[in-house]
Amino acid sequence: MSAIEIKDLSFIYSKGTPYQKQALKDVDLSVEEGTVLGVVGATGSGKSTLIQHLNGLIRIQDKKRGSVVVNGLDASKRKERARLRFEVGMVFQYPEYQLFEDTVAKDVAFGPKNMKLSKEEIDLRVRRALELVGLNYEGFAERSPFDLSGGEKRRVAIAGVIAMQPKVLVLDEPVAGLDPVGRRELLDLIGRLRREVSPTVLIVSHNMDDIASVADRVIALKDGEIVADGTPKQIFGDRALVESIGLEVPPAKRVADMLEERGIQLPPQIIDMDELEEALAALLKQKEGIADEAQTAEATCAEEGDMRSQDDSCAVCRKTPDEEGEDV
Ligand SMILES: Nc1ncnc2c1ncn2[C@@H]1O[C@H](COP(=O)(O)OP(=O)(O)O)[C@@H](O)[C@H]1O
Ligand SMILES: [Mg+2]
Repeated sequence: MSAIEIKDLSFIYSKGTPYQKQALKDVDLSVEEGTVLGVVGATGSGKSTLIQHLNGLIRIQDKKRGSVVVNGLDASKRKERARLRFEVGMVFQYPEYQLFEDTVAKDVAFGPKNMKLSKEEIDLRVRRALELVGLNYEGFAERSPFDLSGGEKRRVAIAGVIAMQPKVLVLDEPVAGLDPVGRRELLDLIGRLRREVSPTVLIVSHNMDDIASVADRVIALKDGEIVADGTPKQIFGDRALVESIGLEVPPAKRVADMLEERGIQLPPQIIDMDELEEALAALLKQKEGIADEAQTAEATCAEEGDMRSQDDSCAVCRKTPDEEGEDV
């Protein structure tokens, strides 16, 4: 089933003024439910404009031509657009700046309250959302969001979005400003949220490494148009394509390319660090294996002399008994 259907979507900022800027051009996009879609592109390529159409935050400009439908809800219709606010959870860049209530629990409850749920249901959802983002309810519920660490604040902000149990979760640059550990934790959290709350996830990032490690599919925007669409391997494995979009290949791909230029053979299309680590470990093991084999062979030739060919050189290590003697 398709979770998102976008057809012929264009958008122009400051239309009819000297500052007019076309941010989207005839975008067509269909996303299957259960997909983690990475949205990449240089700054100004239209990523945020595109995703803000999904919950109706930005209205469709030309309704006769363009359409946006999410889980069957049509963003051009007022009533359906109102429901989209809850159906599509939007986590903006630096979401911690949007915390405003005096306790964590109240902040997380804000969305569910707007959904007019019962008090019991709201409490349940707040509890579950906090536990899901890895914040113990008893320990955090009554604390002020402003006394938390940066990473904890971001988790509270995300809990506020997932407490609405949106079917589609959209994250705009979710790991911006986090240290490597915080980044890894947040990417793991996204995997958990996908399994337990929001089956379809869109992640906007200009960090190709992050997208390579979490996405099933990647679209690339350039000047408001989708210029590439494929699996992370198809997109990030193609250096010319990535550079033409104005981006850099993921670090793992850069390292793999450098090693290959030096004649080190690796499996094709390595794009993330885990894969690179595995490939290097296998290579090392293989080299150790060859070294061990050669050693064993030499020992065998020297001790038993049973692997000699006619010219008396060893079939494995290619040395004559004299040469072997020189080694000792
Ligand atoms: N509020 C706005 N007013 C005018 N132009 C805007 C506005 N927001 C974005 N733009 C322009 O629209 C284009 C796409 O922006 P945006 O969707 O924010 O791109 P991205 O998220 O990929 O960086 C850019 O050229 C940007 O300068
Ligand atoms: Mg943006």
